[in-house]
Amino acid sequence: MMLLLLLLLLLLFLILHQPTSVLSSSQLSPFTQISTSMYVSSPGHEEKTHSHKNLVIALVVVTTSLAALILFCLFFRIYYTKYYSSKSTKKNVQTSGQDAERGVALAPFLSKFSSIKVVDKKGCVPIIDYKQIEKGTNNFKESNILGEGGFGCVYKARLDDNLVVAVKKLHCEKSQYAEKEFENEVDLLSKIQHPNIISLLGCSSHEDTKFLVYELMQNGSLETQLHGPSRGSALTWHMRMKIALDTARGLKYLHEHCCPPVIHRDLKSSNILLDASFSAKVSDFGLAIIDGSQNKININLSGTLGYVAPEYILDGKLTDKSDVYAFGVVLLELLLGRKPVEKLAPLQCQSIVTWAMPQLTDRSKLPNIVDPVIKDTMDLKHLYQVAAVAVLCVQPEPSYRPLITDVLHSLIPLVPVELGGTLRVSQMTQQLFFPIDPCTQ
Ligand SMILES: Nc1ncnc2c1ncn2[C@@H]1O[C@H](COP(=O)(O)OP(=O)(O)OP(=O)(O)O)[C@@H](O)[C@H]1O
Ligand SMILES: [Mg+2]
Repeated sequence: MMLLLLLLLLLLFLILHQPTSVLSSSQLSPFTQISTSMYVSSPGHEEKTHSHKNLVIALVVVTTSLAALILFCLFFRIYYTKYYSSKSTKKNVQTSGQDAERGVALAPFLSKFSSIKVVDKKGCVPIIDYKQIEKGTNNFKESNILGEGGFGCVYKARLDDNLVVAVKKLHCEKSQYAEKEFENEVDLLSKIQHPNIISLLGCSSHEDTKFLVYELMQNGSLETQLHGPSRGSALTWHMRMKIALDTARGLKYLHEHCCPPVIHRDLKSSNILLDASFSAKVSDFGLAIIDGSQNKININLSGTLGYVAPEYILDGKLTDKSDVYAFGVVLLELLLGRKPVEKLAPLQCQSIVTWAMPQLTDRSKLPNIVDPVIKDTMDLKHLYQVAAVAVLCVQPEPSYRPLITDVLHSLIPLVPVELGGTLRVSQMTQQLFFPIDPCTQ
């Protein structure tokens, strides 16, 4: 490029120093005009023709060089733009790849399974050697128990390669449903991969006992966080909104992105698990069914008291709106810090829906029924909005309930950007609605 420019400058210099310059006659000084006339009358007419030729050649060279220079610049620009756009596309692909990796939470674990004894595969799910599970849970030691469910306990286990997991032990001899739920969970979870849905890492079987191996969720279940010894003190208003948003994202994936759609059928706070950073994942797919499938007719009426939609109890009608109802109950638990069903007397129970409904729609009463742990820590407008969403979700008539995608979109603006929403919390607001210090509770 520099060389080309130098060449051009040199040529221009040569042209300007020709006896007959490119300057027009009108621009010539009288002195020059005289010299020109002298040239005309001079006998060196050939010399003049020769210099004209030189001028033409010089002009041709200059224009060609200029054209070459312009073309070069043009090509350089096209190449530069293409190179950059391809670089940014590559970056996009990588980003979506990273997202996919986040979704396919199994990947980093499965790679570790190469050194862990995988005896076989059940569909896509690795079957882990029972001996490893026994050893990893210290022979199902009590201190390894993370929680207890209807069919058995969930244990913390350290497998080979120091991979720490959660192992659910299902006693199939106790109930025919345990094995059915095991099969259903393996079948569904092996096909579902999403950041807000628990990852099934493997399974195992020993005599009448089946095992499901999951990724370990360090902060346990939402139920334990809300109704356990800490009584929700680790969960600020914004974290609660994030948990609701994550759960809605998991459900949206089941209802709208799975083909055919999946109805969870057992959404409840004990089936919403929290990882080290309190990101929520929906778990327990033992009761989940494929929407629109024939087997819906023959399914048993199941679910958990307090979360089951009225139309399901009354008519056995099961749709994605049944999950929306259960989601509404979880939202009420997050708002009010109450259990879905409270025992008033030995034979008297009260559901959170019946109790809260009249107060949820009354703006003067609402702030007084909020969980005391988060009382006065949120923007009131946001509180009214979340209460309105919850009221809609628990409507007795399923068609009045919103779709989970509508719920999701109404929650996004209430969750801070750093927690996965779009809310920008100013320094002022942060000071106003300071996070709760568990030590002061
Ligand atoms: N992957 C996991 N990581 C950490 N803790 C877990 C994990 N899975 C389950 N738990 C804990 O074990 C408890 C029992 O789980 P499980 O799914 O067996 O029963 P449940 O959901 O409480 O009740 P149900 O039997 O009615 O579904 C959970 O509430 C949770 O506290
Ligand atoms: Mg569970």
